[in-house]
Amino acid sequence: MTILDIIEKKKTKQELTREEIRFFVNGFTDGSIPDYQMSALLMAILLNGMTDRETFDMTDAMLHSGDVVDMSALGGIVVDKHSTGGIGDSTTLALAPILACCGVYVAKMSGRGLGFTGGTIDKLESIPGFDTALSEEEFFDAVKRVGCAVIGQTANLAPADKKIYALRDVTGTVNSIPLICASIMSKKLASGSDTILLDVKYGSGAFMPDPESALELATKMVTIGTIAGKRIGALITDMQQPLSDHVGNSLEIIGIVDVLKGKKNRLYYEIREVALRLLALTGKYTLATAEAAFDNAIDSGRALNKFAEMVEAQHGDPSYILHPEKFVIGKRDVVVAQSDGYVTHMVAADIGRAVTHLGGGRMTKSDAIDFSVGVIMHVAIGSEVKKGDVLCEVFHNGKGLQEAEELISNAITIGNDKPAEHKIAYAYVGKDGVELY
Ligand code: URA
Repeated sequence: MTILDIIEKKKTKQELTREEIRFFVNGFTDGSIPDYQMSALLMAILLNGMTDRETFDMTDAMLHSGDVVDMSALGGIVVDKHSTGGIGDSTTLALAPILACCGVYVAKMSGRGLGFTGGTIDKLESIPGFDTALSEEEFFDAVKRVGCAVIGQTANLAPADKKIYALRDVTGTVNSIPLICASIMSKKLASGSDTILLDVKYGSGAFMPDPESALELATKMVTIGTIAGKRIGALITDMQQPLSDHVGNSLEIIGIVDVLKGKKNRLYYEIREVALRLLALTGKYTLATAEAAFDNAIDSGRALNKFAEMVEAQHGDPSYILHPEKFVIGKRDVVVAQSDGYVTHMVAADIGRAVTHLGGGRMTKSDAIDFSVGVIMHVAIGSEVKKGDVLCEVFHNGKGLQEAEELISNAITIGNDKPAEHKIAYAYVGKDGVELY
């Protein structure tokens, strides 16, 4: 078997065997297949696709390229959720404590932000002392004691994905459904949970532009996870505007504390939908009993206390969760409406870019982050505004303020006609099919 034969086969739209797929994944990971041949193969896959069987075999080869975490010692149901990323998407921070209060374990590995999307790990590190690099033993201990813990991805989790993703990023081959599916699912399957809910986003702040392409990706990922023996489902959700009205690192923790105290905004409803679907997937709950458990976790104050407990178990200062006014936030400025009307459209990615300009995100992997900057949105799509009304508060430390405010002003379109309501979820994909909302 040679890599040239494999490239030729995919170029001529033939199905690759499991052995051929293992050959190129392992060969590229160990350095015996060079970048230029792997690039040609990735482009052939992007153009000609992969069957579900090929996608599963690629996922499986990538997941076994490094450590596969075993959570069975916890002795309970271990759930995970994965979001394909977006602006103001801090759902994990609330879901972990809420789900732990509902009697399932959450042992989550999350990523850092790059470009216009924020990362859960950066948000958590804005809490003084919070350690996202616990040893394996400390991580298991925290999950066992508290019910939930969130750390950064360990270096040896699906190393094939790290190498392949870095090459895709510079060869125009990110945008392929089988490659995205194998990339995400190899990491999810290697991180050891038995029940997985995927939150696949579409819209101007996501990398899937429309609900149809998000549905195609979600269906493929649910198929691969089901073949791998997991209980898995996917929600298709809207990312045409920031999910949280708070965007930025410390600000998103403040926004999550509001949700855990019961504030009913878009973020709350999305967290609720993800939690109910995930709990129902475990088989331990129906959607109705999950609803009651979710409401009880919030209304009783247990979910907020659980978040503080998780912070303490990871060496952070829990008083910041119980008293979020302790966070140091940048200086305040505002962006105001230039006309009367309705907010008809938002470019969510530009709100994320504005926060990056303020110093709240990274342009390159090595950039330091200013946790204290960000924005609080005062409007959503459909809001009615008068000229001069505040659209958004901007918190800054001097850096990038003008660029950020320009981006935000241009990102929010005000028109005369009230737009149709934007639903939070478009569809749910389970192993038995698609349910439209
Ligand atoms: N996120 C991933 O982890 N991989 C992709 O290919 C795209 C998004």
